[in-house]
Amino acid sequence: VRAEVSRRGVLYGGAAAVAGVMATAGRATAAQAGSTADGGTAVEAFHGPHQAGIATRPQAHAVFLGLDLRRGADRDSVSRMMRLLTDDARRLTQGRPALADTEPDLAALPARLTVTFGFGPGLFAAVGGGPGRTPPVKDLPAFKIDKLEERWSGGDLLVQICADDPLTVAHALRMIVKDVRSFATVRWTQRGFRRAAHTQRPELTQRNVMGQLDGTVNPAPGTPDFERAVWITGGGPLHGGTTLVLRRIRAELESWDAADVVAKEFTVGRRLDTGAPLTGRQEHDEPDFARLTAAGLPMISEYAHIRRARVEDPGMRIFRRVYNYDEGVSAGGTADSGLIFASYQADIDRQFVPVQRRLAEADLLNEWTTPIGSAVFAVPPGCGPDGWIGQSLLA
Ligand code: HEM
Repeated sequence: VRAEVSRRGVLYGGAAAVAGVMATAGRATAAQAGSTADGGTAVEAFHGPHQAGIATRPQAHAVFLGLDLRRGADRDSVSRMMRLLTDDARRLTQGRPALADTEPDLAALPARLTVTFGFGPGLFAAVGGGPGRTPPVKDLPAFKIDKLEERWSGGDLLVQICADDPLTVAHALRMIVKDVRSFATVRWTQRGFRRAAHTQRPELTQRNVMGQLDGTVNPAPGTPDFERAVWITGGGPLHGGTTLVLRRIRAELESWDAADVVAKEFTVGRRLDTGAPLTGRQEHDEPDFARLTAAGLPMISEYAHIRRARVEDPGMRIFRRVYNYDEGVSAGGTADSGLIFASYQADIDRQFVPVQRRLAEADLLNEWTTPIGSAVFAVPPGCGPDGWIGQSLLA
């Protein structure tokens, strides 16, 4: 740590030292910052077998930061970078300023902040997997529905920052970007949101920007199905980690607006108001895919989103931790809006790709949605108080 402090001292000059002193003095207490008991001061644990920010109940705000390593990066420099970033994450998530925090007062309200790291294919190429070693993640195959834009795709390193407060997210993002500057350049940032904290009971399924209840059928954290679906096992360096597929999916809201309720419900196979399957009454009723209408047609269409996306084995499902994005409207009134579709699973090829293939082949929802960004990351396991994220892969 001392080496890092002095390295930062060189980088940031005197400010680093001053900020370090302020940090230890703990200038802004949560009480001074006027926190409410269950809001601003709420903390998510940083240490553990898994990184936080995955099984964590989704916070209201997120920013996904995609970075490219600078030329010449190697195992040594990536390890140094990850030590530094782990230190930032460890402090900020617990309501303490980062080591060289230029605005230490902003750290006082973590608001359930989590900072989660993912390694893209390029990072594994840079650190060298050893002879014959295949990197744990590779780019997805192309899907015919894709209209991917470079500015939302790829990346060597992912930092996912989530909190119930947007200012906390902004501050954490700024600290991370500052510290990573000598190692990597910013490729993209994607900001997402869900309902504001305390707007809706946390156990309820939220609606997305298209108005649908989104997240009904999803492995539930804390269950054996979730453990099996999400965490990598087998004792290797990624044991306790997972993988992330991040897709930016534009919602064609103008034409969606033009569709009537019947068409919208037929598209997904669920009712808009209750989220119930078209064959059921309540949100969590099991869909009956065999049921026919009086005319002898399936009540849930062969091309309905929930039929195409269905995976029967609950331990083989993907875990969707989805955010909305809404970047305003064009002069002509067209929305720039959609989903930042974050899918976690133990194995991308076995879990994500088959579902995405079936959806790309024939899903009525494709009429109103367009994937415009795509990136994949291996998410290393968590670490203990003396460790750092990525240690099992890099050290
Ligand atoms: C289910 C919306 C993209 C996988 C659902 C449901 C909605 C929905 C409303 C039903 C409620 C629920 O169970 O959550 C959307 C929208 C998308 C999108 C608006 C794009 C903008 C995707 C993608 C995938 C996916 C890209 C995977 C590649 C699933 C799965 C289910 C689901 C696995 C649960 C299916 C089941 O009932 O077993 N989605 N989705 N979705 N979606 Fe999507």
